[in-house]
Amino acid sequence: MTKSMLGVIGGSGLYDLPGLENARWETVESPWGEPSDAICIGEVDGLPIAFLPRHGRGHRLSPTGINYRANIDAMKRIGVTDLVSVSACGSLKEELAPGTFVLVEQFIDRTFAREKSFFGNGCVAHVSMAYPVSPGLVDEIEKAARAEDIAYRRGGTYLAMEGPQFSSLAESHLYRGWGCDVIGMTNMPEAKLAREAELCYATVAMVTDYDSWHPDHGEVDITAILKVLKENAHHAQQLVGRLARDFPREHQPCPIGSDTALDFAMITAPDA
Ligand code: ADE
Repeated sequence: MTKSMLGVIGGSGLYDLPGLENARWETVESPWGEPSDAICIGEVDGLPIAFLPRHGRGHRLSPTGINYRANIDAMKRIGVTDLVSVSACGSLKEELAPGTFVLVEQFIDRTFAREKSFFGNGCVAHVSMAYPVSPGLVDEIEKAARAEDIAYRRGGTYLAMEGPQFSSLAESHLYRGWGCDVIGMTNMPEAKLAREAELCYATVAMVTDYDSWHPDHGEVDITAILKVLKENAHHAQQLVGRLARDFPREHQPCPIGSDTALDFAMITAPDA
């Protein structure tokens, strides 16, 4: 049996995870380049936890400037088995008010200026992304959200846009027409790379605003977002704390095979 190690990638507003025992920031080298920052490694009741601020401490990196491959590789390299992405997002649905945590089920990837795969010419692999999140991990997050009385919704589609500008009104309406629930700038290609790295992955999308479509809320405004982010960050820390305390200490095989995703994905002949 493999021991569990929980990885957390913190988005805007979540730059630290207080409460980790024996916490230390470690620089992890990756052949894919520099991760966003050092990784804070610690424990909660004996469960190893690794925390990486996606934009770096002090928020130095833009969504396009993040080295997603190095981040995922660094997490894999230090032994993470299950990776939770905690990310700020805009809401595309009336009922998903700011403050709601959405346990995302699907993604639409509209990003276009990022490296999206560990594979390329010389070694070609095609992993399935039909079900991008690991349902077992989402079950654990849902239990933690319930136990901490955090307003959440399970399910929903996350539209990943390139940014860094927010959407135009026409784009916001378009994505609503596509049935998307939330919008953000970072969870793709992260989810794709996590699958290629055979990590169980799940997104907790914390709603900060109504994007630009809502007639009563006007344009997206970073000052308003930052205010909600602060409140959300506190809930995110509560959620992760509970998740860690109750998390299975032995890695549970992923029901959809996220942790064996490469078994049938390689198309390049071994002797090619
Ligand atoms: N992150 C937070 N709010 C957002 C929005 N409305 N669009 C894209 N990314 C976001």
